[in-house]
Amino acid sequence: MRTIVAGNWKMNTDRVSAAALIDALVKESASFGAEVEVIIAPPFPFLGMAVEKCAGTTIRVAAQNCHEAEKGAYTGEVSATMLRSIGVQACIAGHSERRQYFSESDARIGEKVAALLALGLTPIFCCGEKKEERESGRHFDVVTEQMKGALGRFSNAELERVIIAYEPVWAIGTGLTASNEQAQEMHAHIRALLHTHGASVADHVPILYGGSCNPSNAEGLFAQTDVNGGLIGGASLVAEHFLELVRIASDSKASRP
Ligand code: PGA
Repeated sequence: MRTIVAGNWKMNTDRVSAAALIDALVKESASFGAEVEVIIAPPFPFLGMAVEKCAGTTIRVAAQNCHEAEKGAYTGEVSATMLRSIGVQACIAGHSERRQYFSESDARIGEKVAALLALGLTPIFCCGEKKEERESGRHFDVVTEQMKGALGRFSNAELERVIIAYEPVWAIGTGLTASNEQAQEMHAHIRALLHTHGASVADHVPILYGGSCNPSNAEGLFAQTDVNGGLIGGASLVAEHFLELVRIASDSKASRP
């Protein structure tokens, strides 16, 4: 199983600070072990620069969102075709902030995943429950619905090309992290859902944890059986923190049987 550390920069940085952050990661990239894949998702205006700066390294560049249509009269939107044309290799789909502030439904997120898969881009599909959903004990059902609603239509071969990120909404940007046990039990639940499509799907799809993951809590989280790395927000904006997370993921991978 692959181990992945992905940085979701959200709507942060400007041209100068984005360049400095990419340069700091590129500088260290020769020391990244082959056991960990590193992905960064800068804002749209800096994607071209990120692709150029990361060329020749193992760092892959992702977008944070795309439109599901190939092209057309959708003012302000960016298609997966455009992303691919500049060398972007992956794209986040269905982040909880897109669901919350831009009313993205599971069906629409599924359309985005379909557009990405059709072009050979890697979708990083996000799911996760809100605080009140966990408090009322509905968290497993909520994640099941999100998975089925967005990913239910894909073939096994397509599903095997998806990366999943479990991000409990109550943990995103709040400093509250899921405990190791809470993360593991939800990741095991997601793994079981993948298993209904066959062992090969369950064995191929990495499930990342996201939500206030940082160098002080990552070791325990990344050590969980079904946690295959992290989708990192805040801590991905500080080069040393992100690099430390890459090292922790490498070590945890190395210590697995
Ligand atoms: P956070 O964000 O690490 O800042 O909580 C994670 C995410 O939303 O992807």
